[in-house]
Amino acid sequence: GSTRLWGGRFAGGPAEALARLSVSVQFDWRLAPYDLAASRAHARVLARAGLLSADELGRMLAALDDLEAACASGEFRPTVDDEDVHTALERGLLERLGTLGGKLRAGRSRNDQVATDLRLYLRDHARGVAARLVELADALTEQAERHVETPAPGMTHLQHAQPVTFGHQLLAHVQALLRDLDRMRDWDRRAAVSPLGAGALAGSSLPLDPVQVAQELGFEQAAPNSIDAVGDRDFVAELLFVLALAGVHLSRLGEEVVLWTTPEFGWVELDDGFATGSSIMPQKKNSDIAELARGKTGRLIGGLVSVLTMLKGLPLAYDRDMQEDKEPVFDAVDTLELVLPALAGMISTMTVRVDRLVAAAPQGYTLATEVADWLVRQGVPFRDAHEITGRLVALAAARECALEEVSDDDLAAVSPRLTPEVREVLSVRGALAARRTPGSTGPGPVADQLVTVQDRLDQW
Ligand code: ARG
Repeated sequence: GSTRLWGGRFAGGPAEALARLSVSVQFDWRLAPYDLAASRAHARVLARAGLLSADELGRMLAALDDLEAACASGEFRPTVDDEDVHTALERGLLERLGTLGGKLRAGRSRNDQVATDLRLYLRDHARGVAARLVELADALTEQAERHVETPAPGMTHLQHAQPVTFGHQLLAHVQALLRDLDRMRDWDRRAAVSPLGAGALAGSSLPLDPVQVAQELGFEQAAPNSIDAVGDRDFVAELLFVLALAGVHLSRLGEEVVLWTTPEFGWVELDDGFATGSSIMPQKKNSDIAELARGKTGRLIGGLVSVLTMLKGLPLAYDRDMQEDKEPVFDAVDTLELVLPALAGMISTMTVRVDRLVAAAPQGYTLATEVADWLVRQGVPFRDAHEITGRLVALAAARECALEEVSDDDLAAVSPRLTPEVREVLSVRGALAARRTPGSTGPGPVADQLVTVQDRLDQW
């Protein structure tokens, strides 16, 4: 017979084209363990309400356990006739319990069920993603720890700007990931609301206990409004935003690794296990992990946009459009679960070419700001100091030499304020050591930052 949950008022079965459009079990089957957990909580509430006898509750819970084991082993599978995960599991229950299985649906609708299942699934899996984010942040932090004093050319506009420490650059990525982790924790607080008990949209005339169900399922509270409970998908859109932004951070990190591993930069060499070759060019070593991290971010952003667009015109409460919330958010979680371990492995095994970084740090006149700051300390207004230093850079560029190689006479010709003592500030190490204020790139503040970062990561 049909396993449909809604046949009574219909003369015939659904058209083939409708059934094919409607079916979601191929992607919502992964909600099965959460649907079963919610069913257990609901069965207990029905028993407390006197709607299931103690014996019936016992048989119901045993059947749910048996069904869960059968799902886990693959012995119970959804069929093409099961419209969705809820339909499939009710069929499994009926197969085990006969008519008693039909009692569980009292006071419950797929509308509150699916909202509950999805919250449970996402809260669970968001914790997994957060753990993987911590692992990547740990990998970056361990590399940073080795390079608290390693100079590198700091960039703006992808042009050499001022020397930085490479550890500081790596920790900048960690700071972004720490914000992502904070956002996930914050999201979880708002997602910890249980819709079960809202029914289709109006609550129930049966004496259910939404507060008890919420507690049993690990939620912080029961939904305060049954219409909102089934109509709200903020928790999907918000998580998609948090994951998409994390994806953007991974993409920017990926882009830097792609640059760093080019021969033009040569700052980093990837471990063979985390790099790929070419089918035609035997010499190639490509950073495909970094590129996939960058490329897959498009899926996360697309998922966020598709869910927001799906929601924007919907009247309250539940509309079938909402079935479209699942694939994008599942894909976002799956994508990060793939990308994050690969990135973490790539980062923790990469070799940083300190020699290349040291050589590159002063290139492109990155110490020009030191000259201007030195002039300021001699009492020259910064505006004039900037102008004088600009002329010095132009002269050095014309001579094809470094700033410290400009002769005493040439210095004086650029400006009488440029005495030979200016050369004292023309070292990368000196420029870095001079940056002592909190949050600066000098080895001192970077060591302090490292302690704070490690401390925050340890708390996860
Ligand atoms: N499969 C649906 C979804 O994922 C839940 C079913 C609600 N269907 C309905 N006709 N009220 O959103």
